[in-house]
Amino acid sequence: MKKILILNGPNLNMLGKREPKIYGTQTLEDIESLCRDKGNNLGFEIDFKQSNNEGQIINWIQESIDEYDGLIINAAAFTHTSLAIHDALKLLPFPIIEVHLSDPKKREEFRHFSYIEAIAESVISGHGAEGYALALDKLQKLLQ
Ligand code: DQA
Repeated sequence: MKKILILNGPNLNMLGKREPKIYGTQTLEDIESLCRDKGNNLGFEIDFKQSNNEGQIINWIQESIDEYDGLIINAAAFTHTSLAIHDALKLLPFPIIEVHLSDPKKREEFRHFSYIEAIAESVISGHGAEGYALALDKLQKLLQ
């Protein structure tokens, strides 16, 4: 069974309460169960994690090297700031899909640059929680 790691960055634990006009009303727990259902349908084993701490996300990326077949990452604000996450992601031998609930390119200019997009197979933005399901579909095609 293929194993997929889904990582979520800072403030995504507050979904539901956080700027619902931008991020919707679904909680991170709702997104996790959506990913688990979708993963089940596609025959994936899913690990789903969130941290507000950049170092923790880097540790999880490093530890994933020999354990997973694909990574979905919504690095949240670290997308736009973290060269360290970019460098950690470059270690990975499997495909990476970058996901955002909103479309950062259509928002403030400081959200337009992503440290992840250059190394991601694909970027899925602006589809809300459904973007995670689209990312799993994309991985399934890539891993066939
Ligand atoms: C986000 C977009 C980022 O710009 C922002 O900092 C987030 C969430 C999204 O999912 O739309 O925290 O990654």
